[in-house]
Amino acid sequence: MDFEVAKLQTRQVYNLMIGMITPRPIALITSQDEHGQINAAPFSAFNYFCTDPPIVGVGVTNRPEAVTVPKDTAHNIRRTHEFVVNVVTEDILRKMNICATDFPAEVNELEMAGFTTAPSMMVKVPRIREAHASLECREYTTMEIGNSRIILGQVVAIRVDDQFVDPSGPYIKAEELHTIGRMNGLGNYVRTRDAFLNVPRIPYKKWLEGERGEE
Ligand SMILES: Cc1cc2nc3c(=O)[nH]c(=O)nc-3n(C[C@H](O)[C@H](O)[C@H](O)COP(=O)(O)O)c2cc1C
Repeated sequence: MDFEVAKLQTRQVYNLMIGMITPRPIALITSQDEHGQINAAPFSAFNYFCTDPPIVGVGVTNRPEAVTVPKDTAHNIRRTHEFVVNVVTEDILRKMNICATDFPAEVNELEMAGFTTAPSMMVKVPRIREAHASLECREYTTMEIGNSRIILGQVVAIRVDDQFVDPSGPYIKAEELHTIGRMNGLGNYVRTRDAFLNVPRIPYKKWLEGERGEE
């Protein structure tokens, strides 16, 4: 089927895009308002965009019920310019899901989910203690586009539980971290446990020698 976006409703564009841009990493973002109230919410319109400097981006749409009103995460980052990306792994998936419930702004999602916090190294916003890895970020810039914001954050500190780090690189022991990927909405996710494929790139010299990377 072919779809001309201008003829689709917003919801239909959303359905199609989130169904094919998969799996997506999930940033469980902690942020704080100007009074210190902590907020946590998951975002899968998330990725890194460069590492020199290290920049991550997150797409936050305004509230579905009031499309001109930003979600608390976007509101907080606009006010205090800092946030922490807590990496979502299998063991915290269900707690993460509770953080996506649309609680009133004064409710602490972390308490509702049974998460606890720990101080960050470089930013005032705390990280989630139960997350095995986190990225501390300072707002680099925010683009307001229609009813959404694309927030770019510069990573100023990286924290990973020792057991998931091979210090020789350092590398992340990605096969052991068991991160979760977001699929097509509707409560669908994928595990990365026992799901790795290793397909090394073919050097051009090897290509000329006939290597095609077949199993
Ligand atoms: C796995 C998952 C991924 C999500 N990704 C996004 C996203 O990328 N952008 C967005 O605006 N909302 C996303 N949401 C919805 C927000 O998490 C939800 O609206 C949340 O209540 C916002 O909280 P806040 O107002 O405290 O910021 C996602 C929800 C889940 C469960």
